[in-house]
Amino acid sequence: MYASLKSIGAYAPKRILDNQELETLVDTSDEWILKRTGIKQRRIASKDELTSDLGVKAAKIALQRANMDAQQMDAVICATISPDYLNMPSTAAIICDKLGIYGKMAFDISAACSGFVYLLQIANALIKSRTCKNILIIGAEKLSAFTDYTDRGTCILFGDGGGAAVITQTEDKNQAILDVNTGSDGSYGHLLMTPGGGCKHPCSQEMLDKRLNYMQMSGNEVFKVAVQTLTNDVVDILAKHKLSSCDIDYFIPHQANHRIISAVRAKLDFPLEKTVLTVEKYGNTSAASIPMAINDAYEDGRIKNGDLLLLDAFGGGFTWGSALVRFAG
Ligand code: ACO
Repeated sequence: MYASLKSIGAYAPKRILDNQELETLVDTSDEWILKRTGIKQRRIASKDELTSDLGVKAAKIALQRANMDAQQMDAVICATISPDYLNMPSTAAIICDKLGIYGKMAFDISAACSGFVYLLQIANALIKSRTCKNILIIGAEKLSAFTDYTDRGTCILFGDGGGAAVITQTEDKNQAILDVNTGSDGSYGHLLMTPGGGCKHPCSQEMLDKRLNYMQMSGNEVFKVAVQTLTNDVVDILAKHKLSSCDIDYFIPHQANHRIISAVRAKLDFPLEKTVLTVEKYGNTSAASIPMAINDAYEDGRIKNGDLLLLDAFGGGFTWGSALVRFAG
């Protein structure tokens, strides 16, 4: 018994925040942002559009493409660092309610930008152990709600969006998730964090005045570890399966920074045409970034049934993960 990535769906909010508009908010320039990150624009959810709404919109597309009803799902799991509510209810439970799914397992995970790869590992295990037959996994983020638009070091990076996939059981290895590896190192947590709002710095006027409710990042230090970790991830998973970059149809890395992706791609010898890039138009959407990228390449006809995808993620925690997946959509 294998688990299979049966379908993909994604949603990007309508409003575009481009580099020119950011120039009016902080001391930056379109030229600097493009050169250092490759980002031209990001999508921003409206005031009434919550993380759960972005997830629901992506999930409806994934369910329709899988030709399945929401009620057929045995579990709904959402990866997010920007949940509708701080601790409860979970965004997954809210998504279930909005999709009309009741009585099923629903929970959130927090693994920052590695969230979707973590979801694949959990869904893979739940299906292989025959605990579930069909699982809806969702990476959704309204990062704009946690972005400090007075901090030029972070506000240029992040955007909002949702991505979803239906994971089902299969006996066909050519339609299967072949492997998922995940890891973490909490000693780097301070380099990328939202300091306020949790039990360490509960909500208070002082916490808000210090802007601790927003994401903070030591960008340059994160950058160096990200390149090394993303590269090691790929080297390890390819070696484990005696594969090379030539065997991969599409390399789909987390979309944080064009320079990070280029550095990893160069070290691993992945041609540009085999690498899916969406960072230019969506920025960094954390847990939504990989499913949004898969969706883009699926919708424009690049990714087809049976293609071997290599996913590679890195994010706050630090967390990381890679996956080898035969696309079964
Ligand atoms: N516009 C203009 N100048 C800027 C800006 C800006 N938006 N931001 C920083 N600068 C300045 C700095 O102040 C600094 O100036 P100084 O030399 O006078 O001190 C200079 O530019 C260089 O700053 P660095 O931080 O060294 O710039 P760097 O080349 O590292 O780029 C960036 C910054 C884009 C943030 C990069 O470090 C990065 O992408 N880091 C990794 C992000 C990432 O992968 N995160 C992980 C996933 S995110 C998650 O899990 C939620």
